[in-house]
Amino acid sequence: AAEGDPAILNLPSWTTTLGLPVAMNPYGQPSKYESQLLRRESPGLTRVGQASVSFAPLQGLFGIITPSGLHFERHHQGWHDVDPAQHRLMINGSDPAFLKKPKVYTMDELMRLPSVSRIHFIECGANTGLEWGNVAVPTVQYTHGMLSCSEFTGVPLRLLLEDCGVDYKKARYVLAEGADGSSMTRTIPMEMVENGEVFVAYGQNGEMLRPENGYPLRLVVPGVQGVSWVKWLRRIEVGDKPYATKDEAVHYIDLMPDGKHRQYTSIQECKSVITTPSGGQRLLEKGFYNVTGLAWSGRGKITRVDVSFDGGINWKTARIEGPVQNKALTRFNVDWVWDGKPAMLQSRAIDETGYVQPAYGQLREVRGTKSIYHNNAIQTWKVDTNGEISNVQVL
Ligand code: MTE
Repeated sequence: AAEGDPAILNLPSWTTTLGLPVAMNPYGQPSKYESQLLRRESPGLTRVGQASVSFAPLQGLFGIITPSGLHFERHHQGWHDVDPAQHRLMINGSDPAFLKKPKVYTMDELMRLPSVSRIHFIECGANTGLEWGNVAVPTVQYTHGMLSCSEFTGVPLRLLLEDCGVDYKKARYVLAEGADGSSMTRTIPMEMVENGEVFVAYGQNGEMLRPENGYPLRLVVPGVQGVSWVKWLRRIEVGDKPYATKDEAVHYIDLMPDGKHRQYTSIQECKSVITTPSGGQRLLEKGFYNVTGLAWSGRGKITRVDVSFDGGINWKTARIEGPVQNKALTRFNVDWVWDGKPAMLQSRAIDETGYVQPAYGQLREVRGTKSIYHNNAIQTWKVDTNGEISNVQVL
């Protein structure tokens, strides 16, 4: 601020006049000065917006929770604001021997059952999918914005299956089905349900789910790619083998370098990204910057994040800011003094299994360059002498 700063010397109108009354906005909205922080779609990505993605503005978010209004969206067939009074969840078996008492639950019935609240990230398997061959998009919103993290509330699926008399010895898989027109159906191995982690959620960040995110009911499958988090969840079937539905036989499969496809690779491996400063932003002057970002792993908790300012030659361990939750976004920060010279910013996360996030070269050795899904390579942001930041790849 300049000497004799008028913002200090002159009293502004908000100090000298009466403010607005309570409940003028019965549902609060962000400040008008924050109107640029929006989810955004990538024009031309799909033919119609009903089958598209909107990306979360990671560059402008703090902490680990994504505000519900900025949670990314991925719809295969558009979204609906479903009337909860008309919504049902049916649970059945592909064979009567797998589940003794098939049932249909209303929302009221589900919401009377014992609930859990847990913070988890959801990442679309296609996040960072445009970057397999080379850099494709300029900002972290587009490279990594198919990622969000919320506190979800709901009923463990295990509890519902047991209520319906499941036979765990025979029923080893679950098929989840959505109520929209996309015939979204995904197989989930029963171990994930039996250990209590999978739940049917109605709550998101303290209120009911948003319509775009599956109101009034969605599946939460911690650590697993977003496509399995079936929205507008209307049916769960138990069976004895994977279902190989269209969204697990034709889509959401990994094209490997030998030309074969890999199926059912649903866990989101350990990954991280620096969100600020990041692509499309500009450093105004030399000096101190708080470098901040997010780390996550579908296999558990994040244990360490290292940051490099020289494209991966030297690394510095970042401060992990709590809370560190299982299969949730984890915030890291690191101090940096920019000397005005070119720099290459990278982050590299390590999870509790000891897995280290790979560089592009390492990932491509195994996965090639023609895939879409499950790109968890280290992201590089290049800082130019004029402070401009761009997306580059370092092998
Ligand atoms: N469930 C239904 N019923 N229909 C869908 O189109 N999209 C899936 C999944 N669940 C989808 C769905 C995909 S591909 C993803 S990545 C996540 O929902 C996105 O969840 P979100 O829109 O809440 O971010």
